[in-house]
Amino acid sequence: MRPIHWFDSIGSTMTYAAQLAAEHHPHGTVVGADEQRQGQGRYGRAWHSEKGTGLYFSEILRLPLKPDALPVVTLALGLATVEAIATVTGLSCDLRWPNDLLAGDKKCAGILVQLQNSAIIAGIGINVNQVAFPDEISGLATSLRIQSGREQSKEKLLAALLTSIDTHCDILVEEGKDKILQMFTAVSTYARGRRVFVDLGERTIEGTTAGLTPYGFLLVRLDNGKLETVLAGGVRPCS
Ligand code: BTN
Repeated sequence: MRPIHWFDSIGSTMTYAAQLAAEHHPHGTVVGADEQRQGQGRYGRAWHSEKGTGLYFSEILRLPLKPDALPVVTLALGLATVEAIATVTGLSCDLRWPNDLLAGDKKCAGILVQLQNSAIIAGIGINVNQVAFPDEISGLATSLRIQSGREQSKEKLLAALLTSIDTHCDILVEEGKDKILQMFTAVSTYARGRRVFVDLGERTIEGTTAGLTPYGFLLVRLDNGKLETVLAGGVRPCS
C-alpha cells in the first residue's frame, strides 16, 4: 500500500513532503491537502490553492537517476498529468515547456520539482472544480470543470495520476531520457515551431522554438539565426 498523508489544510505539501523525505520515508509517499495556505509555484510565486476545489499533492520519488535527469523528470510528470486528465475527463491538454498544462490556452495545472538530498519531491497542482479565479490570475487560469462543463472527481484524478506517474517514471528509468523527450515533443505544441517570448529574468528573448536538448532544455531560434538554450524561464506565446 502507498503511504498517503492527507490534510484538511496545510502550509505547502512541498514542505511537509521534503520533511518526510529527510526522515527517510519511502518512494511513493504522497502528501496531499484539500487546501494550502502557502501553496508554492515556480520562481517563488504563490500557487492559488482554494479549499476543496483543486488537487494539491507532492510525491516522494526515489529513482535511480543522475541529478542531471531532473529537468526530464519534470517533463515526464507533465506527460503523466496530461494522460491522467485525458483518462478521467476526456480533455486533451497542451504542455508548455517545462511544466505548464494548458486547456483552452489557459493554465489548468502546474508542476514543481525539488530535490531533498537524493529524493525528488514532485509537486502537482491541478485546477479541478474552480468556477472562478482571483482577478490577478483570472485571465491566465482555467479549471477542468470550466473546460469540460461538468464537475470532475478529484479522487479519480489522483488515482489515475499516481498510476500514470509510476508508468512515466518506469519509462524514464528503463528507456531513458530520449524516450520522454520524444513523447513530450509529440504532445506539446510549444516544443518546436512555436513563436514565443521567453522571460529569462535578466532579459527577454523572442524567437521560434526548435526542440529540446538531450537534457530537456528548450531551444529557441532567434531572428538573427542564433540558437539559445533556455535552462529556465517563463515561456509565453507571441500572439
Ligand atoms: C507552477 O506551475 O508554478 C508549479 C505549481 C505547483 C503547485 C503544486 S500544488 C501541490 C504542491 N505544493 C505546493 O506548494 N506546490 C505544488
